[in-house]
Amino acid sequence: MSAHLVIAIDGPAASGKSSVARVLARRLGYVYVNTGAMYRAVTWHVIGSHLDPSHSDAVLSLLESTRIACEIEAQESVVRINGVDPGAELQGEQVNRAVSTIATIPEVRRQLVAMQRAYGEKADSVMEGRDIGSAVFPETPYKFYIDASPEVRAQRRAKQGLQDSILQRDKVDTSRRMSPLVIAEDAHVIDSSHLTVDGVVGEIVGRLKLKGLLAADF
Ligand code: CDP
Repeated sequence: MSAHLVIAIDGPAASGKSSVARVLARRLGYVYVNTGAMYRAVTWHVIGSHLDPSHSDAVLSLLESTRIACEIEAQESVVRINGVDPGAELQGEQVNRAVSTIATIPEVRRQLVAMQRAYGEKADSVMEGRDIGSAVFPETPYKFYIDASPEVRAQRRAKQGLQDSILQRDKVDTSRRMSPLVIAEDAHVIDSSHLTVDGVVGEIVGRLKLKGLLAADF
């Protein structure tokens, strides 16, 4: 068990998890932790080092000489690679293309999962990703899985003006050997296809009231 509460929000690419997790964390006064950003930061560093993301040995030896710092600033997680916050470059097209390959490497996952668990020792958090409820914090009673139809997800990503083959990423994420994207048995599933961010947050808050985490008049 972690020292602090963790609300786990998992789901496929562009399902709206990030917006929902950030708004929910603000409403609750919890820290917002974006675990996808950690996999993206490692990917950004691999690309910047001109390595092939599918060469796991080369990726791992790069990581041996890399300082990955996961911190909290303004109630949100921040990842720094050798002291640098990659910022908007985390959403770049090259990172989109390679991140799921990097996320299949078991040793990369082990290192990043340890850092994600460390957040659970520091503060109450809303943590979003692919395996938070199933593998990182399986003991948390607060698990949500946010989905949306493939069409809606593709539209959402296109609206951000980004090239992202989300179906290809979903395929790799659901079929990898170590902690693939799955719906945890005890997760509450929300289809956000026809809901606003506030609508999804409202549903989660309602559920947290039923579970006794929040007062009825929250
Ligand atoms: O925001 P979006 O849904 O596009 O993706 P993200 O949350 O930034 O995650 C990017 C990629 O990182 C995913 O496609 C997964 O390959 C990987 N990831 C993971 O394997 N496990 C996590 N807990 C979070 C992300």
